[in-house]
Amino acid sequence: MIYLDNASTTLIKPPQVAQAVLTAMQSLGNTARGAHGYSLDAAGTVYEAREKLAKLFNCKRADHVVFTANVTQALNIAITGVLKKGDHVISSDLEHNSVLRPLYRMQTEQGVAVDFVPADARGNVNYADFQRLIKPNTKAIVCTHASNLTGNMIDIQRVGEIARNNNLLLIVDAAQTAGTKAIDMQKLGIDILCFTGHKGLMGPQGTGGMCIAEGVDIRPLIVGGTGVQTYSKAQPDRLPTLLEAGTLNGHGIAGLSAAVDYISEVGTERIASKEASLMRRFYDGVNRIDDVTVYGDFSRDRAAIVALNIGASDSGEVADTLFEQYGIAVRAGSARGNRALSDSVFRILTPRKKSTGRSLPCARSRRIFAVTNPLLKYICQTKICTDFKTTEPQEETL
Ligand SMILES: Cc1ncc(COP(=O)(O)O)c(C=O)c1O
Repeated sequence: MIYLDNASTTLIKPPQVAQAVLTAMQSLGNTARGAHGYSLDAAGTVYEAREKLAKLFNCKRADHVVFTANVTQALNIAITGVLKKGDHVISSDLEHNSVLRPLYRMQTEQGVAVDFVPADARGNVNYADFQRLIKPNTKAIVCTHASNLTGNMIDIQRVGEIARNNNLLLIVDAAQTAGTKAIDMQKLGIDILCFTGHKGLMGPQGTGGMCIAEGVDIRPLIVGGTGVQTYSKAQPDRLPTLLEAGTLNGHGIAGLSAAVDYISEVGTERIASKEASLMRRFYDGVNRIDDVTVYGDFSRDRAAIVALNIGASDSGEVADTLFEQYGIAVRAGSARGNRALSDSVFRILTPRKKSTGRSLPCARSRRIFAVTNPLLKYICQTKICTDFKTTEPQEETL
């Protein structure tokens, strides 16, 4: 099996992650719901995980690491908890719908004004646009660290400087970079770092969270069920409890904690450099194949994602063939969640219909990440996925 869908979720985790989940399931009580040993063990396990994540992302306070079910939930809490009626927010064309939908919702339901920094033909932003779009009522900048579609990164340090100089909050979607790129919240000027546990962090699904800088106020999205200050009508106002209504995924967090141990031991720099060299090899190879179009900018630091089309092949069909006949898992589809697809970058990413010369409508387009035989052959010949495969693909079957 060759698994090439790590941008969606990592399939092969360090074995100690599953072991930690199993141990937790057999031994942990509920965090913050009792004074017996099982409950205290749970609280200790969760707190340790906060400490490890605070260290990994250089978040000043471990109690400002809040656990959620995934990055989508974290982004919803951040966006709805920071913005209010009359505010203006700046985002970018590179965003996933985990950022877009909460923003659009705030726009329609709360009258929050939203502007997007456009992406150019290679899927890059112009940093001057962040400055240009600032208004007197701008409250925050919300942007991704890396596009899940093109792999292009946004230079968060540059955006952080703009945010700091203009007294704006910076909320970052680190779904595609947490665990695979070094992220130093304080150095980058991030106020709320949202991450998911099941991708590059290699933890279990159902884990994620946010690291919050000191002095940032966030209204909780859901309240109740904390087991803390039970008689109070209001949600406890201190982090992390303020934003953690209901029982935490203690078992998953135990697994995430083991995953962070693994990542810290190996080192994000080493992981980033390994990923970059695999990606470069893959890119250099596929880019030479006739009819392959690769999207994104490979001339600068980027996430290890390669989006491509081969002619007019349907990506869904190709992905099915790849999986059914060769055991290769790739992501097919139009990645419709991305604003980039429906706006500037979409025009470049969508292949043109040969007969009419018109762009395919988004809903019909299943061509992003399309893969056909030459690519398959390349994958197998170069053994690009050595680290991830469990069986060797047979070249003669190509
Ligand atoms: C950039 C980006 N943001 C958000 C998400 C949503 O992640 P989750 O499903 O873990 O909430 C993804 C998932 O692919 C992503 O790539």
